[in-house]
Amino acid sequence: MDRTIIPIASGKGGVGKSFLAANLAIALAQLGKKVVVADLDFGGSNLHTCLGLHNNHPGIGDFLRARYGELKDLLVATEEENLKLLAGDVRSPFLANMHHAQKMRLIYNLKQLDCEYLILDLGSGSTYNTLDYFGMSQLGMIITTPEHTSTMNMLAFLKLFAFRVIERSLPKNTFLNEKLRESYNRSVMEEVLTVRGLLDEISTIDSDVAQNAEQNWIRYRPRIIFNKCKMPDELDILPALENTLDQNLLLRCDFFGCLFSDPAVSITFQQRKTLNTVSPNCDILEDINLLADRINRLWKQPIANSANLLQNNAVKLFEKRRV
Ligand SMILES: Nc1ncnc2c1ncn2[C@@H]1O[C@H](COP(=O)(O)OP(=O)(O)OP(=O)(O)O)[C@@H](O)[C@H]1O
Ligand SMILES: [Mg+2]
Repeated sequence: MDRTIIPIASGKGGVGKSFLAANLAIALAQLGKKVVVADLDFGGSNLHTCLGLHNNHPGIGDFLRARYGELKDLLVATEEENLKLLAGDVRSPFLANMHHAQKMRLIYNLKQLDCEYLILDLGSGSTYNTLDYFGMSQLGMIITTPEHTSTMNMLAFLKLFAFRVIERSLPKNTFLNEKLRESYNRSVMEEVLTVRGLLDEISTIDSDVAQNAEQNWIRYRPRIIFNKCKMPDELDILPALENTLDQNLLLRCDFFGCLFSDPAVSITFQQRKTLNTVSPNCDILEDINLLADRINRLWKQPIANSANLLQNNAVKLFEKRRV
């Protein structure tokens, strides 16, 4: 089966990852797709709540502790016929710090799940583990609100993700790894390390390795979603953001979706029911269904001029709702 993996990450916490993971999964399932949504926010698992389910299912922690068995046996049925949940874990302390071998086993097994869409709800922040789950796809999804702190944290996340990809492109146990650590440990008086700066430093030691690392990095093309938007003009930051991504991170992204702030969301959290059940006609459900449709049609291809397209779509939607 042709499988699309969509890890959902953010630099800042509380921007709507779990809410979107759950409701996007429902929307894709309603389009007739076979979907699995997995809770990879260890220590902060709450995805089940957004799906209107209780937290009494064995999950990834049990899988890792048992050291045998298959993830598919842990899939939980939801209200949607085509959608299954892979629960996280709140019983295993410190699971977020799982060691490398456990993480690799988990990633390997996640990639074996039989579905058309595998949606991963990640924890916020940029631990190695979160960065590696985000790296399970070259087309990950990153959520931010239009607020400055949130977009800054997104850029910080993407920069650390770049460093991680570059680090993993280097040959093991070499002088290069040592140099890399030295570069990270700069004092506050020195110039901030950029992606280009890091590649240049590697290049002074081995230009082939630097070239290979850069090639690996530029294959990634994250998709940015703005959540909790209030006015379409908040998206006026897009051209400057696009420029920063290009100049500072050598990164092309697609501005893929805009979801407006909606009081219906907090009701779903309070009542622990799905958005469909609580408020089937709310605006945010329309936003999510539009996003699911766009994913279904366009996820695998780069979107030309995505900043303009997203701004225009947001204005149209906003104007339509105002009349
Ligand atoms: N579009 C929206 N409109 C209004 N409120 C929203 C919207 N999206 C999310 N929220 C609110 O933001 C809060 C955080 O949402 P959620 O738990 O999905 O974020 P998160 O990114 O998964 O957080 P964490 O980093 O803690 O895992 C919730 O209280 C939710 O009600
Ligand atoms: Mg969450």
